[in-house]
Amino acid sequence: MRRAVRALLDEAVDPPPARVVLSDPEARDAVLAHDRSVVRFADDPPAGTDAETVDRRGEEALARLRTAVRRAASDSTAAAADASRAASSPSGGTRVVATGAERTQPPDRRPFDGRPPPGWYERGGRVVRVTGRDEYYNRAKQEGYRSRSAYKLRQIDETADVLPRGGVAVDVGAAPGGWLQVAAERVGPRGRVVGVDRQRIEDVEKTDDRAHVETVRGDVTDETTRDRLLDAVGDGADAVVSDVAPNMTGEYTVDHARSVHLAGVALDVAVACLRPGGDFVAKVFDGPDLDRLRDDVDAEFEYVRDVRPDASRDSSSELYLVGKGRMAAPVAEDEVRTFDVVDTGTEGDGIARVDGYAVFVDAAAGETVRARVTDVKPNYAFTERVDEGEE
Ligand SMILES: C[S@@+](CC[C@H](N)C(=O)[O-])C[C@H]1O[C@@H](n2cnc3c(N)ncnc32)[C@H](O)[C@@H]1O
Repeated sequence: MRRAVRALLDEAVDPPPARVVLSDPEARDAVLAHDRSVVRFADDPPAGTDAETVDRRGEEALARLRTAVRRAASDSTAAAADASRAASSPSGGTRVVATGAERTQPPDRRPFDGRPPPGWYERGGRVVRVTGRDEYYNRAKQEGYRSRSAYKLRQIDETADVLPRGGVAVDVGAAPGGWLQVAAERVGPRGRVVGVDRQRIEDVEKTDDRAHVETVRGDVTDETTRDRLLDAVGDGADAVVSDVAPNMTGEYTVDHARSVHLAGVALDVAVACLRPGGDFVAKVFDGPDLDRLRDDVDAEFEYVRDVRPDASRDSSSELYLVGKGRMAAPVAEDEVRTFDVVDTGTEGDGIARVDGYAVFVDAAAGETVRARVTDVKPNYAFTERVDEGEE
């Protein structure tokens, strides 16, 4: 922690406005440990950072911020000295930039020949080392992704296979567009991607390898925005992915509850537009309401699982709920009803049809039986016979 806080203070400069960019999670946590309320996360980090950004105006807020930074550094004399310098900067602005992920090449090291070795890279004529999870930030810069989050979607798709080639994907909370880029690559040129965000999203260029990307601007909690989104989606989607995140207050319970609410809104979008068998991904911050949300997802999908991509920061409580296989069955689990068996399956079991949907029943074609639905899949269901008086 000391090293991270020192890194934070090393680059303390003081132009207005009062802004703190904490790209080192360790340093951020150190400051947060002293006063959670000083750090507020902006929706729109300035270009060049993928970090949590604080924009504080007002002397009182600044004073609290400086105190928290000073306390975080108080276990190191040198850092504390730097902290008090930062804290005594002219009123109106303290800018503290934590770039703990970068360490310049040590002077006693031989210069690298050709390409830097793994874990090091060249930037602005310097060879710098990448440490921890911020490798993803640097990779995003190098590989042309608009956000480090892009790697989260890549890893989720590698783990849970949610973006089918040639399919239609919907991205909820899509700005600045890292997930849109990944989704467009994954569904490929014959696929289509539609994103929604209340922030403006720069066009994502269509290439030979990537799908066409369309965006809708608006607040997804507004029904009118959802209607515009569903119009843009048209016939139905194969995947709805959501990285939507609330404005962070730093209050754990509030941030958790808001993230659950937004994930629920994304679930509404999924339920409204996913085709049977389609998949759903939603970011949520771990906490007491997570189980309820997981149950809501489970009710609409064949099964639900948690994915914690490697690209999420260690210090983050975020995880992604993945609902696999949207169910659009006309029967529900545990429902008991009468089935007319009209056909025989390859394994000899009877098949009843409910609005064209296949229900396997332990009976012969031509029989009419009472049965309880035991397992519902997107395209068919299983049952067990119910004898008279058993219901
Ligand atoms: C973590 S960012 C998404 C990053 C994105 N996945 C990427 O890779 O570029 C979360 C986004 O959710 C958006 N957001 C938050 N609340 C929203 C709402 N009510 N309606 C629409 N977008 C919202 C924010 O504007 C922000 O762009």
